[in-house]
Amino acid sequence: MEVWRTLLGVPLLEVHDTLGSTNDRGKLLLREGAPSWGLILAEAQSEGRGRGGKRWYSPPGAGLWFSLLVPARGNAWNSLLPIRVGMALARAGERTLQERGASGTEFLLKWPNDLLLGDRKVGGVLCEKGSEEKLVVGVGINVGSPPGGFQGPLESTAGSVEGLTAVCPARGGFLEAILKEIRDGLEEEGELLSEKELEEYGRRDALLGEKVESEVAGEGVARGLSKTGSLLMEGAEAGLTEVMAGSVFRR
Ligand code: BTN
Repeated sequence: MEVWRTLLGVPLLEVHDTLGSTNDRGKLLLREGAPSWGLILAEAQSEGRGRGGKRWYSPPGAGLWFSLLVPARGNAWNSLLPIRVGMALARAGERTLQERGASGTEFLLKWPNDLLLGDRKVGGVLCEKGSEEKLVVGVGINVGSPPGGFQGPLESTAGSVEGLTAVCPARGGFLEAILKEIRDGLEEEGELLSEKELEEYGRRDALLGEKVESEVAGEGVARGLSKTGSLLMEGAEAGLTEVMAGSVFRR
């Protein structure tokens, strides 16, 4: 374990066979004074959750389910975390697949926190407040195909990296690449997205130009991101609206 902690460059590493939720474990550890950049991994989660209280399917061995303890900054910077972490996941995924000979695969992002391959969701980010000074950044990625496939409502929406690219990256190497990209991405101190970040998001934006429906802003056409990380939506009447919260669906 000490070897992995050193290899991954984290001050604290917990690896569990099963946890309720790595985010809950992260919050508990923060109450006990855990350091920034501590990492909690689970082989499986029994109560894994996504945004909006949705369940996050986390079967054993099939994915990367982890939480990272990230030092908080101002509210504006904190609220950009899901976007910056999403871009880091996409970059790490592409690099890892390229190393396995599957170059040309592009990961897309669906506002605010979905990682996609094509139109299938392969991952997501759940950022939660951990303590006054730290945030818990939870990441779930469907790396391998779960035995029996995705069931129920997930059957038509979810996918795995293995299922969609025919390459199953080793989870250790994938995690190493993700941590590097997250650390590099979060060195960005800006409380607004930079032009470079907006350009990258634009290349990966699965909703750009699509007819969408927002839970809070109704129907419109997605027009990219604002510098504050809101989704820009062009409605029939109100011109451009900034959507800051809630889910958005393709129409
Ligand atoms: C989403 O797409 O809604 C976010 C999914 C986040 C899932 C991860 S898995 C590790 C961490 N622990 C949880 O309970 N959730 C996050």
